Amino acid sequence: MTTRVHRIAAIPGDGIGPEVVDAALTALDHLSRQTNAFRLEVDRFDWGSKRFQREGTFMPADGVDALRTYDSILFGAVGAPDVPDHLTLWGLRLAICQGLDQYANLRPTRILPGLSSPLAGVGPDDLDWLIVRENSEGEYAGQGGRSHRGQPHEVATETAIFTRTGVERIMRVAFSQAQARPRKRLTVVTKSNAQRYGLVLWDEIAAEVAREFPDVTWDRMLVDAMTVRMTLDPRSLDTIVATNLHADILSDLAAALAGSIGIAPTANLNPERAAPSMFEPIHGSAFDITGKGVANPIGTFWSASMMLGHLGETEAEAQMMRAIEVVTADPESRPRDLGGTASTEQVTERLCRALDEIG
Ligand code: NAI
Ligand code: MG
Repeated sequence: MTTRVHRIAAIPGDGIGPEVVDAALTALDHLSRQTNAFRLEVDRFDWGSKRFQREGTFMPADGVDALRTYDSILFGAVGAPDVPDHLTLWGLRLAICQGLDQYANLRPTRILPGLSSPLAGVGPDDLDWLIVRENSEGEYAGQGGRSHRGQPHEVATETAIFTRTGVERIMRVAFSQAQARPRKRLTVVTKSNAQRYGLVLWDEIAAEVAREFPDVTWDRMLVDAMTVRMTLDPRSLDTIVATNLHADILSDLAAALAGSIGIAPTANLNPERAAPSMFEPIHGSAFDITGKGVANPIGTFWSASMMLGHLGETEAEAQMMRAIEVVTADPESRPRDLGGTASTEQVTERLCRALDEIG
């Protein structure tokens, strides 16, 4: 059997980023040795807030181009207490997502075995969602500016951009993701009553693209009402597509409803594979627990599993997911945010043992 080789760029970043990325690299290495089916060549980049404070930039000027030569990127988190968050986000994470045109952000959410939702009476069969977030334009397109700083008539604009190309391509991803799931349902989220240009365009394009997917049942929701439906009727939802800002907010709610932000994964995809895709937990750098060894690495394990799937290692993707489920099902191996006492290292050891048991 020949061993397939994949080149991975690891960007651990700030705060608990390095703790959870190290845990995921340990797990991936374990799985690779165990199966011998694939090998990862990992290069580590020390980009982030420390580099910014030292050198004035979060990554080198040719950083995005350097990433193009890799098969995938595994990212931790970026953000430091003494660096403004808008500099951090635009200096690294958004620079990579936009630079590599990773326009489709997939965020699966479900209640893993052994975990419980804060919603009374809601179990694993009642909450199994895939949120598809537009990841290149919308409210985070980066258009806007400030004038007359500090004066009483100071003005700031933040312009949302919706293009036909951008909306069409995310709708196609959303409908095809919905089509691939057993329930074949899609909910298109907007705020097209109040935002009557960009989001009416969004609604119109949804209806156009829907005609290409006659087997997908779809409906529309306004984002405010959507928070109510997610909370009171989670079972009625399956695949969800929303703008950059709306899906950002809804996916944090989704993660909390499924048990904890510490388990939620995300894939920033360039679906055409013209550039590498990036996989990361949805949480941030969590300064409050940095260095304590208690960060939950499961969101990064799940992201690593999605990365394996994207690399074509579907067997390994499923093995990693099954091992995660063994870990969450065992109360002894749950970290603090899931009500347990296991350290990051103990969760990782348990995951590796689970990989052995499964393999
Ligand atoms: P956060 O996600 O870092 O933390 C929110 C809360 O969840 C904290 O109480 C934290 O301890 C907890 N938490 C998060 N991840 C956890 C894990 N793996 N295990 C256990 N507990 C976990 O969000 P916050 O506090 O709003 O932001 C902190 C910094 O992270 C800011 O600088 C922010 O800009 C940045 N950030 C970066 C993101 C990224 O790089 N993708 C995403 C979100 C925030
Ligand atoms: Mg967010």
